[in-house]
Amino acid sequence: MLFARIDATNAPRFDAWFAVLQRSEQLRDGGVGQGWHPDEWRARAVDESAPRVFRLYSYGPSLDRPVAVGALELTRDDNLSFIEASLFVDPSERRRGYGSQLLGHLEESARDLGRPTLVVFVIEGASEIGTGANRPFARRHGYRVAEENVRRDLAWPRPTGELDRLWQQWLPFASHYDIVAWTGATPAILLEGRAHLSAIMPAETPHVDLDVEAEHWDAARVRHHEKTTDEMGRDLLVAAARHRVSGELVAFSELTVSRQQPQTAYQWDTLVVGHHRGHRLGGLLKVTTMRLLSEGGYATTKITTFNSTLNGPMITVNEALGAEIAGAMVAWRKDLVEPVAT
Ligand SMILES: CC(C)(COP(=O)(O)OP(=O)(O)OC[C@H]1O[C@@H](n2cnc3c(N)ncnc32)[C@H](O)[C@@H]1OP(=O)(O)O)[C@@H](O)C(=O)NCCC(=O)NCCS
Repeated sequence: MLFARIDATNAPRFDAWFAVLQRSEQLRDGGVGQGWHPDEWRARAVDESAPRVFRLYSYGPSLDRPVAVGALELTRDDNLSFIEASLFVDPSERRRGYGSQLLGHLEESARDLGRPTLVVFVIEGASEIGTGANRPFARRHGYRVAEENVRRDLAWPRPTGELDRLWQQWLPFASHYDIVAWTGATPAILLEGRAHLSAIMPAETPHVDLDVEAEHWDAARVRHHEKTTDEMGRDLLVAAARHRVSGELVAFSELTVSRQQPQTAYQWDTLVVGHHRGHRLGGLLKVTTMRLLSEGGYATTKITTFNSTLNGPMITVNEALGAEIAGAMVAWRKDLVEPVAT
C-alpha cells in the first residue's frame, strides 16, 4: 500500500481523492453529499503562501485508486501546537484496517511538520449523531474529545415577515451601535477592525480541551481570505456592528454561498466582543446577512451552522431564528509527543 501527499492540480489524482471523500459524505448525509465542492478543496490546497493550506493525502494500492483519503490543515503562523486533520475511508473498504493505517501516517506527518498534537475533525449526519464509527475508532486509537459541536440547519427562505419581526424585537437592545453590511470586499475603512475581530475569534469561542490562541491577522490577510473565498466560487455576505461612542468595530458575522451550487449556504464566523455582548448584536448581524442573501436572489434552500455545545448564547440566537438540529461535528485530540518532565 502507498501513502503520499497528492498534488491538487494533478486532475486524476485529485479526482480519485475527491471521489472517496464524496462517497463517504454521501453515505453520511443520506445520498446527497453536503461537504465542500472540488473547486473549494482545490482552491485551499494549491496556495502554499496562504496562512492556512490543506495538504491532501491518499492511501491505497495506487495513488490513482485510493481506499482512504485525508487532509492536514497547515497553519503558517497560528496555533502551532496542534494541526487539524480529517480522514475518510471509502465506505466499501471499511473495517479492513485502512483507517488505522492512514491515521498512523497522518500522525507521522504531523510529527514531521513539528506539530505535537493532532486534532481530527469529523462531521456526523443527522442519523448518526453521537453514534458515528469515529467514536469507537478514535477512542481505540487513544484520542479524546476536544470539542463537540452541533450542526443546525435553517430552512430558507424564511416565512414572510419573520426576519423583520426578529429585527424589531432585537433592535431596541442595540441603540448604541450602527450595523453595516457588504458583499465581497470589506470597505477599506473597516479593514483594520475586521482583521482584529478575526484575530481574536478563535480564542473568544469556547473549547472543551483545546488551547486555542489568537491568530495573526492584518488587512492583507483579510484581502487574502476574500480572494481565496472568491476562488472557491463563493460569495461572502458580511455584517458588522460599530460602537457609536468609540467608533470601534465590535462584532461581525459572515455568511457564504456558492455561486454555482447555492443550495446550502454556510454560516462562517460570528463574533461579538466580550463587553459588547447582551445587546442582541449576534441576532441582528445574522438577520442582516440573511437580508443580503435574499437580495442576492440565490437559490438557497438552507443555511447550515455549527456551534460548540458550550456556546449557549449563539445557540439561543440560532434557535430563535428557527434553525433545527441536523448533525454534529466532533474534534478528537491526541498528543503525539509526551510532554518533557521538568
Ligand atoms: C472512522 C473510519 C475512519 C474507520 O475506518 P476503518 O478503516 O473502517 O477503520 P479500521 O478498520 O482501521 O478500524 C479500527 C478499529 O476501529 C473500531 N471501529 C472502526 N469502525 C467501527 C464501527 N463502525 N463500529 C465499531 N467500531 C469500529 C474497531 O475497534 C476497529 O477494529 P476492529 O475492526 O478490529 O474491530 C471510517 O468509518 C470512516 O471513514 N468514517 C467516516 C469519516 C470519519 O469518521 N472520519 C474520522 C475518524 S476519527
